[in-house]
Amino acid sequence: MSSCNPEFIQTTQLSFDDVPASGAMEGGGAYNKHAMLQARGSASALPCWERAVGHVALDHGDLPIVIADYGSSQGKNSLAPMRIAIEILRSRVGPDRPILVCHIDLPINDFNALFALLAGDPGCYSRNESKVYSCAFGRSFYESVLLPNHVHVGWSSYAAMWISRIPTSLRGHIFVPSSTVAERSAFERQGAQDWETFLSLRAKELRPGGRLVVVVPGARDDGLSGFENIMNHANAVLVEMLEDGAITADEYERMVLGVWPRRRQDLLAPFTSDGGFHDLILESCETTPIADAAWADYQRDGKLADLVNKRAAFYRATFAPTLASALRLAHEPEICRAFTESLEHKLKRRLTHEPAPINSLVVTIVLAKLGFM
Ligand SMILES: C[S@@+](CC[C@H](N)C(=O)[O-])C[C@H]1O[C@@H](n2cnc3c(N)ncnc32)[C@H](O)[C@@H]1O
Repeated sequence: MSSCNPEFIQTTQLSFDDVPASGAMEGGGAYNKHAMLQARGSASALPCWERAVGHVALDHGDLPIVIADYGSSQGKNSLAPMRIAIEILRSRVGPDRPILVCHIDLPINDFNALFALLAGDPGCYSRNESKVYSCAFGRSFYESVLLPNHVHVGWSSYAAMWISRIPTSLRGHIFVPSSTVAERSAFERQGAQDWETFLSLRAKELRPGGRLVVVVPGARDDGLSGFENIMNHANAVLVEMLEDGAITADEYERMVLGVWPRRRQDLLAPFTSDGGFHDLILESCETTPIADAAWADYQRDGKLADLVNKRAAFYRATFAPTLASALRLAHEPEICRAFTESLEHKLKRRLTHEPAPINSLVVTIVLAKLGFM
């Protein structure tokens, strides 16, 4: 952070090629602790996941059954789906067949926190399982991550809405759904291209007869996702920081979240009328409204401070690292920490004055790879 004159806002066209679309989640287990909203959303997809794992084609060999978790972050929200998958697979193949769980995330993800969780969390899926193995891959899911025809069942929760690159700057906002039509079009194109890339890469990695379940926060037909209110508050905080000279105009302009909540029709667009795309067949696509548990608690107990603390901690753990990555001195942990704490503090103040529910929705897509081995 450094001082600036707010009058100089928006004078030059910046290149966004060096702006990471996603800065991963807040490390040190913070995401694990504060991603309750994501946990509820992905829990809504578990019935689809159970069915999908139950239908995966399995051979009678003794090679490991491979489960891939695309966009695992620090792993807490992956424990339940991985545990469920292992229980179902065990009931199908017996106790002796090895099962390999591959967690995939960006190289900047806090993999130490992931491994600490896998070693110490009482809810870890490998507890009481001598033949379950875990590994992690620090690579973007917009690249090939695993060997072709390798994955029996893939899970991806609250991750594929992060796009691969920022296609345009946003005038006066950090979140594209709150932005102009032209800016939204650029994100829409990038989102469409990335979704096809994601699907075609997973199609190669899945084994014939394998299943992929993708859970993403979606947008309604009008393009709204339910996160606009909190994003508007966060943006107002950043404008305040800009006006106070806590961040520069360049830094603010580079603060763009590479998140594109897609509408149901955007997610279904790659599939032909008979549900095919590459070797994948669409088995189901369900849209589920996600009840805002923090808001429900507040409605019941009236504890505004609890609501505001949960909201700000969720926002900080999920989005602050990406915003901080736009700081000129982003490589200095103390600078990032000061920025993050200031963002959280000011966000709490705004949310205290204007508390509101987050009425989000989640789309769960189940895909099968053609053919059997
Ligand atoms: C909101 S977290 C979701 C974590 C967890 N799956 C859950 O349901 O809570 C999104 C994760 O996706 C990861 N991510 C974003 N873009 C990615 C990419 N291109 N390749 C791999 N992981 C990515 C982020 O680093 C982050 O850890």
